[in-house]
Amino acid sequence: MLLLASCGASSSSAIPSFSSRADASPVDPGDSSTLVAYFSATKNTKKLAEYAQEHLGSDIFEIVPKEAYTEEDINYRTDCRAKREQDDSSARPEIAYTVDLKQYDTIVLGYPIWFGDAPKILYTFMESYDFSGKTILPFCTSGSSPVGSSAENLAKSAPNATWLDGKRFGSNATKEEVGNWLDQYFKENTMKLKVNEREVPVTWENNASVEALSGIKPLNIEAERYGGFEQVGPLGQSIISNDVQITTSPGDIVLYASNQIVAFFGSNTWRYTKLGHIDLSQSELRDLLDKPSVTLSIL
Ligand SMILES: Cc1cc2nc3c(=O)[nH]c(=O)nc-3n(C[C@H](O)[C@H](O)[C@H](O)COP(=O)(O)O)c2cc1C
Repeated sequence: MLLLASCGASSSSAIPSFSSRADASPVDPGDSSTLVAYFSATKNTKKLAEYAQEHLGSDIFEIVPKEAYTEEDINYRTDCRAKREQDDSSARPEIAYTVDLKQYDTIVLGYPIWFGDAPKILYTFMESYDFSGKTILPFCTSGSSPVGSSAENLAKSAPNATWLDGKRFGSNATKEEVGNWLDQYFKENTMKLKVNEREVPVTWENNASVEALSGIKPLNIEAERYGGFEQVGPLGQSIISNDVQITTSPGDIVLYASNQIVAFFGSNTWRYTKLGHIDLSQSELRDLLDKPSVTLSIL
């Protein structure tokens, strides 16, 4: 089965677009069309890649250098081989083995941060294969550096792939942390929304408020039109929120004041916690929501 098939459009421009969870479709775990590919010099990334493989039931491929990195080679306090490679924009260390990527739609790509970037062997890997139409979910391990621009840099080598936002882990990240991260992409949130009995397609956020909402469903919320741009109704209780000032778009579903659900057919700027987005056109949203009152059912 094609994984993450409909997430964000593949970019055909030189600099690929990065899409976040909001654009991604859920996928089935245990699908053989996912590959965890990783490079690891001191086994931190290896451990996390193996956690990912176990969690997903996927295949795994280690990017093994033809010329192994010795301790000296990666002694970053010296003018070591790793440093020289990282400083050389044309360095492409050779890879010992190849993999047949054809069967894979999704690549979970792991690597350590070396001097703020992905090791050059990752560039060799990206340039060795055609990633067109594939989805790449990058992660890194590092002492403290964030994932930063490392994945954006790599993505320039595979502009026709869809790149999801990268994630940095510490070397002692647990299996549970890796699993929770993957679940954002690979586990379907089955919560449904009906507007006056019509089920509407929703992309839910992956946050504590959506989880809390999921925990108190089913809910029938009697909502009323307000301000000519939204339907708002009481949840009947407060749930966890993380309000930030946002300008909403038509279709956005947000939590207001921890205890009210708002569905937008227009836009407003206020402090909300985003819950999701109704994936309908603006005119469909108006037809559904621009009326004195509606029942929002969360099932
Ligand atoms: C050559 C080299 C350069 C490194 N540069 C950075 C860095 O810029 N920032 C950082 O936080 N950690 C840096 N580290 C630490 C590694 O990113 C970290 O230990 C990582 O988990 C190693 O992964 P691995 O065991 O899979 O090789 C560097 C390590 C090495 C060997």
